[in-house]
Amino acid sequence: MKKSGTVFFCQNCGYESAKWSGQCPSCREWNTFAEEPAPASGRSGGQARKKRAMTHTAPVSLKQIETGGQERISTGMGELDQVLGGGIVPGSLVLVGGDPGIGKSTLLLQVCRNLSEKLDQVLYISGEESLQQIKLRAERIGSFADSLQLLCETNLADIEEVMLARKPRVAVIDSIQTMYQEEISSAPGSVSQVREATGVLMRLAKEHGIAIFIVGHVTKEGTVAGPRVLEHMVDTVLYFEGDRHASYRILRGVKNRFGSTNEIGVFEMTDGGLKEVKNPSEYMLSGKPPGASGSVVTCTMEGSRPMLLEVQALVCRTNFGLPRRTAVGVDANRVNLLMAVLEKRLNLPLSGYDAYVNVAGGIRLNEPAIDLALVMAIISSYKDVPIPDKTVVFGEVGLSGEIRAVSMARQRVQEAKKLGFSRILLPLSSMDQVKETSGIQVAAAASVRELLSTVSRKQ
Ligand code: TYD
Ligand code: MG
Repeated sequence: MKKSGTVFFCQNCGYESAKWSGQCPSCREWNTFAEEPAPASGRSGGQARKKRAMTHTAPVSLKQIETGGQERISTGMGELDQVLGGGIVPGSLVLVGGDPGIGKSTLLLQVCRNLSEKLDQVLYISGEESLQQIKLRAERIGSFADSLQLLCETNLADIEEVMLARKPRVAVIDSIQTMYQEEISSAPGSVSQVREATGVLMRLAKEHGIAIFIVGHVTKEGTVAGPRVLEHMVDTVLYFEGDRHASYRILRGVKNRFGSTNEIGVFEMTDGGLKEVKNPSEYMLSGKPPGASGSVVTCTMEGSRPMLLEVQALVCRTNFGLPRRTAVGVDANRVNLLMAVLEKRLNLPLSGYDAYVNVAGGIRLNEPAIDLALVMAIISSYKDVPIPDKTVVFGEVGLSGEIRAVSMARQRVQEAKKLGFSRILLPLSSMDQVKETSGIQVAAAASVRELLSTVSRKQ
């Protein structure tokens, strides 16, 4: 039975509903609805509106607005600066999301450490760990300046008071799901608390020019509200991804009011905290077996940044009537589609074969430019003919077997050249873009039919 004065919120995306349901109609997650007290309504009702009307609110023209040359604050980590669009904007609200244990607290403590060396006030507020625990972590990271102040607190009113008294240039809230406001009766971590707390922090950031980083845990179980609930409120959303068992981590910008999105930063988790990986291509390709069939190097664009990766395929005869198709790191439907194209256009009898496709390094790719590499890897494994070493392949494959142009071909070729690759295979229609490139052999193909000869000739 629903209590009066309560509503149901999806703890994943914040969808509000008057009644409980098993699946959220908005984000399609199951079992994420929780009952919470209804948000107080009418707070900005008649009285407030009347009062506001008395004060002078006149619109201004763009020319009248002074930006005051907002200079950005460097975090001391080039990878993070790049994702933020060139550094921290004073007064901005940045959400850092990610699975528990991925390294959010470590990253932000390191940022605080770098900032405390040049700013006079940096505040790190933790609602999850005690001061002793933070100190233990800090000892692994390095030495700290005194301008970094730590606080263990979860009551937002107290935090606000401290912030107003200290006026730090940068503050970190670890994590938003532990913060609460007394006026709201629902538990910390619920949608109403998390939203309300972010609203308070937003006001603090904008009114006093404090740049605030908010940590938000991504949770599968839906017991606490996820960062997606807040995405629309904050200026910048960064997600920290990666396999917890592998050592590298990717910081991805999914929203940025002060820069381009889709930028990534690559880090490696070491004994002494997170280290930047300045050249991710080199890192991702380390361990590529030489002369193995089914292994192809491709170049993908992450935002404005090219990255070389190894795509692997294993094609073997199926033992049952129904072939198995498994894809790790790429869309399995895309693999099925490309295999159907090969079956039809090249007459390869792939329906009698299992196929396993993997992107080495555990990265997820969804750019169509890797199609050609997938196709080459599948053909190479099927024929058991290795693709020559030092070759990079990229291009989109269409249903008629045609190879289509991709964006930023020049940057991809440059990256391959930089890493010492000697040969490129790309779509014929992308040739124009790379005409002037020298020092690397460029081959072009217009359809998958041409690949068959490329793969078999190199025996
Ligand atoms: P943490 O920052 O606590 O994750 P989050 O705040 O996202 O939950 O990361 C903790 C993990 O990082 C933990 O498994 C230990 C590891 N770690 C290192 O490997 N090296 C280090 O120097 C530090 C501080 C942590
Ligand atoms: Mg943490």
